Amino acid sequence: MSLFKKSEAISIDGPAGSGKSTVSRRVAEKLGFAYIDTGAMYRALTLKVMNEGISFDDEEKITELSHDLDLKLIPTTEGKCTIRVILDGKDVSEAIRELGVTRNVKHVARIASVRKNMVKLQRRMVSNLDGAVMEGRDIGTVVLPGAKYKFYVDASFDERVIRRLKELAAKGKVVTREEVAEDLKQRDHTDKTRKVGPLKKADDAIFVDTTDMTIDEVVDEVVGYMRNSLR
Ligand code: DC
Repeated sequence: MSLFKKSEAISIDGPAGSGKSTVSRRVAEKLGFAYIDTGAMYRALTLKVMNEGISFDDEEKITELSHDLDLKLIPTTEGKCTIRVILDGKDVSEAIRELGVTRNVKHVARIASVRKNMVKLQRRMVSNLDGAVMEGRDIGTVVLPGAKYKFYVDASFDERVIRRLKELAAKGKVVTREEVAEDLKQRDHTDKTRKVGPLKKADDAIFVDTTDMTIDEVVDEVVGYMRNSLR
C-alpha cells in the first residue's frame, strides 16, 4: 500500500526533453496514482483546430472548442506511449505527436481564455481522482499551486537534444542534430516567454537535474524525496 495519501496531487513541470513524461508516468505507477499529461491536452486541442480548418487567429472559436473538449486520457504500457488519447471518441495518440501539431501548439497555448478553460478542466480532473501526478509547464505555478509535492525537472540543452534525436530515430524519423536543436530552442523560447502560464519553476518546487541520471534514478529521487518529507 502506498505511504502517500491518495487525495494528494503531485506536480511535475519542465521543458521538452527533460524526461518529465516518462518520469511522471513511472512515479504515478509506483504510487498507484493517476497520470495526467497536460501537454497531450493542448496537443489534442491543436489537432482539432487543424482538422476543423479553423484559423489560429480565431481565438473565439478555439476558446469555444476548448470549452467543450471531449477528451479522455487512458494510461497504457503499450510501446513507447505513456497514455492513449481519445478525442471525440477517436484514438489520436499518434496524431498529436506529429510535427505539424508540435509546431502549432504554441498558437493555441498562448490564448489566455483557452488556458483558463484548460486549467479548469485540469483541476476538475484532479478533484475527481484519488491521487494524481500531473505534468506540464504551469502545473506547480498555476494549475495546482497548493500541490503537496512539486518538482521541476530539467537537463542540459545538449542532453535534451540527444534524447530527442534518439526518440525520433526510434520512430524511424530522419532529422539532423541542428534541426532538433533549433526546434528545441524555439520551443523553450515560446514556452518561457508566453504571457500566460509560462514554463517556470514554482518557488517551492524541488529542482531535479536529470542530465546524468537514468529514468530509474530520477523516479527514485522523486519518490525518495516524498518519503523523506514524511519523516
Ligand atoms: O509536454 P508537451 O511537449 O507534449 O507539450 C506540448 C506543448 O503544449 C508545449 O510546447 C506547450 C504546451 N503546454 C502548455 O502550454 N501548458 C502545459 N501545462 C503543457 C503543455
